[in-house]
Formats: sequence, structure tokens, C-alpha cells
Amino acid sequence: MSRSPTDRSSWTRRAGFILAAVGSAVGLGNVWRFPFQAGQEGGAVFVLLYLCFVLLIGVPAMLVEFTVGRRTGRGPVGALAEFGGGAWRYLGGLFILIGFLILSYYSVVAGWVLRYVVGSVTGGYAGQSETYFLDIATGFDALAFHAIFMALTVAIVALGVRRGIELAVTVMVPAVVFVVLALVVYAWTLPDAGVAYEYYLSPDFSLLASDWRSIVPAAAGQAFFSLSIGMGVMITFASYLDEERNLLVDTGIIVAIDTAVAFLTGLFVFPILFTAGVGPADPGPGAIFVALAGAFADIPAGSVVGVVFFGMFAIAALSSAISIMEVVVSFGIDEFGAVRRRTAAVTGVAMFLLGTPVALLSSQRQPIFVTLYDTLAAQILLVSGGIVLMILVAWIGADRAMAELRRGIHSPGILPRVWIWLVRIPVIVVLLVTLALAVGDYWSFLTGDFADFLGL
Ligand code: PFF
Repeated sequence: MSRSPTDRSSWTRRAGFILAAVGSAVGLGNVWRFPFQAGQEGGAVFVLLYLCFVLLIGVPAMLVEFTVGRRTGRGPVGALAEFGGGAWRYLGGLFILIGFLILSYYSVVAGWVLRYVVGSVTGGYAGQSETYFLDIATGFDALAFHAIFMALTVAIVALGVRRGIELAVTVMVPAVVFVVLALVVYAWTLPDAGVAYEYYLSPDFSLLASDWRSIVPAAAGQAFFSLSIGMGVMITFASYLDEERNLLVDTGIIVAIDTAVAFLTGLFVFPILFTAGVGPADPGPGAIFVALAGAFADIPAGSVVGVVFFGMFAIAALSSAISIMEVVVSFGIDEFGAVRRRTAAVTGVAMFLLGTPVALLSSQRQPIFVTLYDTLAAQILLVSGGIVLMILVAWIGADRAMAELRRGIHSPGILPRVWIWLVRIPVIVVLLVTLALAVGDYWSFLTGDFADFLGL
């Protein structure tokens, strides 16, 4: 089948690229995953490590994806083949697989968010925020809203990059920032805000000494997940660029916005959790829903705030989901000459099926299936994808990557060289260590909690 010229579109305006990248980065990772990981991994120590990973590893890694994408004008599979030659093409398959895995459960969690939009309108969770979550997080409701969310994602991706993504993100980003700021101010007035800030902001280093084996890979995985790096989203977006823009400045903007949204989310989630009496160490994947719904039920005009908050949150999740599906769909278009609409539909169905066990078998007290998918995706697969790209770029294609980074930067000086050397040794070594820790941790989960769950 031949591919129509509009199937591979480019950005309509200068801001389109950055909007889409921010839209991809800001999502469930910031508002759902970040507080849930921070709560589970010891609070402020995790936050500090996460910030280090974002700056020292996330920034160089995003530059790796941007330079490869703009240089080759292709998605991860094509870009890997072109940058590295023959056998690297097969490694590109890893990125497509990661896309399938992430979106399959991402859509389930985003389905919970959609369900809460409805719940805010009907007042369904008022006075029973905990049982409400347990009711809707698994079973028929979860499956139905998982299907709705996936269908929305397919629809937008089928329309193509130009119309869908840019519009959604232009509205979403300022709105999310506004709502999050308003919630930070509200949470500041809560009775237990002080203890919560202490937990969230003042690191207890003794935890690092005892639990570094799980805190370190969790922080690295969160940095990759939140910045959307390690599966070729940023490669794909940069492949639609034809102009000489300053990729370093763009990276700075994207990372700053994404990290700010996550950090601010923590500033309101923990005061709400502490005030609601939910232990920070075991919030699990449902805590943010339970705590926020409880808070919205308590405040004046709470259902309006609830609709606005969960509505914004749903749009943020949608723009991230679109970016994940775009990688898979543009792979079909580029490598097999597939038709965009049909590829989007088939991909959506496959991802929906893969997410079904999470929708049917997860609950707040039993987050086994979320962990099974999510830890594998973030801590193992995204980090592996990042390592593959970094080895390729820093060791095999360094000259081309540096030349690409220079395009659009006025006086780059030694910067490209510093970047390549940072990636070549320290970044790759640190990531290999976190990967090894993550594999060990995941293995104990599989043979421990997961085996128990299966009754083995
Ligand atoms: N960054 C998104 C979020 O924080 O919700 C999730 C995500 C998108 C992860 C794209 C990975 C990815 F490639």
C-alpha cells in the first residue's frame, strides 16, 4: 500500500513541536505516578534523587533523542537503522514493544480519571471516597472507561499530528498549571500541611542507606517515565522538525515545565493525604484518587473543582497517550507504508486487550497488576531503551549527533563535546547500575508478591 503524502505530517507552527513534547511529558506520570512513587519510596529522599536524575540524566537523554530524530527525520526504528546500521534496526523493535506495554495500562489509569470526571458531576464519591475507588478501579467500570480512553486516543492519532495534538496541548498545559497552583494554595491551609511538607521536602538520608536498592531505580524510572524518554517519543516528535531550532533551549523548557508540575503536585497531594489520615508509605496507586476525591467532597463548590481538576488531568493523560501511540503508528506508516487510520485502530485494539488484566485485577489494596506492568515499563524497559540510544549516539554516531546539536545553537563552544562525554561514561554507567538494581527488585517482586498472588 502506498503512503499518502499527508500521512507523515510536520508541525504547523513553530510552537507545535514544543507543545507536543510538553503535552507528552505532562501526564499521569506527574500527577498520579510521581506522588505514588514518592510516597512509596520514602518521600523527600526520593524527590531529591529524582531531581538529580532529571538534571544529570534526563536532560542529556532528551538531547540524544532530539538530535537523532531531527537528523534522521524518522521514528525510533528507522532512526536506529540509519544511525547505527543493520542490526540496530532490530533493537528498534524494543521501542515499539514498550509503547504497547505502557499505553495498555496507562489507559486503564486514565480510565479511572475519566470515571472521576463523571463521579464529580454525579457526586458519586461524596462521603465514600475509599469505597468509591475500590468499586470503580476494577471490573466492568474500569474496563468500560479503559475502552473509552483508548478510543479517544485512537481518534486523535487517526486525525494526524497537525490537527489533533497541537490543539489539545495548547489548551491543556496552561489549564493544568493553573489548577495545580490553585490546589497548592488550598492544601497549604490544611491542618496537617506542616508534617506533610516535612515528609515531602526534608530528606531522611537514613532511608537511603537502608533502601537504596529500591529508591535509586525508582527515581531513575520516574525521571524517564515523566520526561517521556526511552521509547522514542521525543525521537518521533523531533523527526517532524525541519527547522534549525535550538534543541538545548527546547529541552530546558520541556524539562522545567514537566518537573515543576510534578513537584507542585507533591505540594498539594501530601498535605491532603496527611490530613485525610492516609499513611504516606502505603498510598498505592489509588491514594491520589481517594485523597483528592475526599478533599473535593469537603470543600465548597467541590464538585466544580472536581470536574475541572479531573477534566484537566484527563486531557493531560490524553496528550501523553497520543504521543505513545504516535510512535507505534508512525512506525507502521514509515516502515510498512501502512495507512494511518487503520494502523491507529488496530494498535488501539491490541493495547486495549493487553491492558484488560490490569483493569480487571487491580485494586487499591492489591496493586499487583499495576506494579507488574508499570515497574517493568518504567524501571526496566524505558531505562534499557535509553541505554541503547545513548550507546549508539555517544559511541557510534557522536560526530553526527554533535553536528546536529550545533545546528540552531549560536555559539555552542565546547558544549556538544561535554554532552557527548557526559553520556559516554557517567550517564551510561549510572544507568547500567540502576537497571541491574531494577531487575533484581523486579525479580523479587515476581517471585514474592506476584507468585503469592497467583497462589504459587
Ligand atoms: N510522560 C508521560 C507522563 O508523565 O504521564 C508518560 C509517558 C509518555 C511515558 C510517553 C513514556 C512515554 F514514552
